[in-house]
Amino acid sequence: MAALQKKTLLLLVAAGLLVAALTLVSRSTRHPPLPADAIHGNLASNEDCAPCHAEGAEAPLSRQHPPKDDCLHCHRQGE
Ligand code: HEC
Ligand code: HEC
Repeated sequence: MAALQKKTLLLLVAAGLLVAALTLVSRSTRHPPLPADAIHGNLASNEDCAPCHAEGAEAPLSRQHPPKDDCLHCHRQGE
């Protein structure tokens, strides 16, 4: 194989690895969608979340949860 072709091949492999790595990283930080259940079906406002998802409530958020100001900005139905 000519030297130039080898370089091209290496570059392609490197690009593929980069894409794979970025995909993994973005997966791990993707917000989970709202569950498609009766509870979450017709919630329209951020105030509706607190009774269940506040600290000490039924389904508290994890410690690593990102800033929580606008729940529905990040968590949407079926995304
Ligand atoms: C009546 C209680 C209740 C209310 C109100 C409620 N949730 Fe939940 N939520 C739960 C429970 C319990 C779970 C965990 C069980 C499940 O998956 O259904 C959950 C799960 C979730 C999940 C999925 C977490 C995961 O790991 O996939 C998200 C996202 C979520 N809620 C967001 C919200 C948002 C945003 C609101 C307000 C718009 C809200 N919830 C209002 C009880 C509630
Ligand atoms: C800036 C975007 C953002 C906002 C705003 C936000 N979330 Fe999240 N949420 C995330 C991400 C990202 C995860 C996944 C975190 C993880 O895997 O550790 C998550 C995870 C969750 C979970 C699963 C349990 C957990 O703690 O990992 C629930 C339930 C939840 N969010 C509810 C809410 C509620 C309720 C609000 C509003 C009070 C809210 N979120 C606001 C991005 C957001």
